[in-house]
Amino acid sequence: MTTTALVTGAARGFGLALTAGLVARGATVIVDGRDATTLTSATTGLPGPGRVVAVPGDLTDATHRGALRAAVHRAGALDLLVHNAGALGPSPLPRLADLPPHAFANLWETNVAAPLALTRLLLPFLRTSPDAAVVTLSSDAAVEAYEGWGGYGATKAALDQLAAVLGVEEPGLRVYAFDPGDMRTDMHQRAFPGEDVSDRPHPSTVVPALLALLDSRPSSGRHRAADLLEAV
Ligand SMILES: NC(=O)c1ccc[n+]([C@@H]2O[C@H](COP(=O)([O-])OP(=O)(O)OC[C@H]3O[C@@H](n4cnc5c(N)ncnc54)[C@H](OP(=O)(O)O)[C@@H]3O)[C@@H](O)[C@H]2O)c1
Repeated sequence: MTTTALVTGAARGFGLALTAGLVARGATVIVDGRDATTLTSATTGLPGPGRVVAVPGDLTDATHRGALRAAVHRAGALDLLVHNAGALGPSPLPRLADLPPHAFANLWETNVAAPLALTRLLLPFLRTSPDAAVVTLSSDAAVEAYEGWGGYGATKAALDQLAAVLGVEEPGLRVYAFDPGDMRTDMHQRAFPGEDVSDRPHPSTVVPALLALLDSRPSSGRHRAADLLEAV
């Protein structure tokens, strides 16, 4: 049972939907997002006053990560850490031949280096929780070779590997790489500029898959929402 969670990138999309789902279950959720106004207006509407602690900032900034750690310290515990915030890179998605080094460096910083740095900061809290979990948001682009998705997909593959190794090194934790599948979000629209993505599932319909995963607590590993939703 999650009582205190930290969800990165909760101003919109899957992070906001997951935060709503966790708050509805009675959890306190520490959240971030770079735009303070958007983060605050998105999360103040959620039920359970005081249960969402907004800490605006950029995950790639070490000072901001320190502020997140301080919020966890004030909360006194952490049972769930969800590395949801992610970068897509340039839109339209460029072929690898056209992916500028600085764009890949930004993808790496946001999708791999920052989640690892935040995990390191928060491990002391997670280790003292009896049933703590760490979740990284994966993608089918981590395991499939889609044209244009090489930069993003490579960082998600690296994040999957960090999750897999963390699961081995921290046997007291559950560490899940979670592939949500396509979702109707700003990021998905940026991946398909000019296309109608309204047929993709709303992120709130994917949240039950992750909650079911957290409830059933299988061994650490990679899980797809599509498989979990079938079971639900
Ligand atoms: N949508 C899909 O179809 C899909 C499919 C597979 C995997 N995923 C993964 O699922 C996760 C959520 O995706 P989404 O579609 O919900 O994305 P989204 O709509 O782009 O939302 C991303 C959230 O992260 C925040 N964020 C981005 N960069 C940040 C940073 N450096 N520091 C702090 N917050 C940051 C954004 O707020 P600010 O902009 O205000 O910072 C926003 O709240 C991502 O990891 C994504 O790769 C998505």
